[in-house]
Amino acid sequence: MWKKKDADFATGQQKGERQVASRKLSQTVVATGAERFFDKNEIIVSKTDLKGNLTYVNDVFLRISDYTEPELLGQPHSLIRHIDMPRVIFKLLWSYLQDGKEIFAYVNNFAKNGDNYWVLAHVTPSLDDGGNVVGYHSNRRVPKRDILENTIIPLYKQLLEIENNESSRKVGLQKSEQKLTEIVAAQEVSYDEFILSI
Ligand SMILES: Cc1cc2nc3c(=O)[nH]c(=O)nc-3n(C[C@H](O)[C@H](O)[C@H](O)COP(=O)(O)O)c2cc1C
Repeated sequence: MWKKKDADFATGQQKGERQVASRKLSQTVVATGAERFFDKNEIIVSKTDLKGNLTYVNDVFLRISDYTEPELLGQPHSLIRHIDMPRVIFKLLWSYLQDGKEIFAYVNNFAKNGDNYWVLAHVTPSLDDGGNVVGYHSNRRVPKRDILENTIIPLYKQLLEIENNESSRKVGLQKSEQKLTEIVAAQEVSYDEFILSI
């Protein structure tokens, strides 16, 4: 249900429900619990400006998310953020991108009606001819199911619990980052090696 941006949009939120806000619109997304899938030969593509506002989406993105192109372009990429995603993953993503580095990340997203779909995203900075970063680009493929079930879903659950158990969002994020660092360090690898090795 699309509705005009409401100054009071942050209130009245219930479990499993998230208010998506943007410059133009806000939308209430309630998790349905139903998962969507795309073909292993397909790639979900989006591009953003430097602030993470969508500048391009491909047809696979439109199909799986159920949004139209006009609904998406100009909106923040967080429009499709799933409530079960730990914030630390996006912190890491932005920190890599701001350092000019690419990153691979498993991401659970919301479709417009609250269904979800998992992706393995490869996010890269886009450069102009002079080598300046002018935006970002994400190519997403179907993740391996056993990696999701055995590693990513339990890991994200653990990180999300840490984030949600703190009354201070900042402290929750710090603790979650610490936990992720510990888990990766215990394997004696970097985050990049960890993600590509599982
Ligand atoms: C190129 C690019 C692709 C992104 N893809 C996603 C995505 O698929 N899902 C998502 O929730 N956030 C994605 N993000 C991160 C969002 O910008 C945002 O940081 C995240 O949704 C967390 O929302 P928040 O900023 O409200 O905490 C992407 C960012 C960039 C630059």
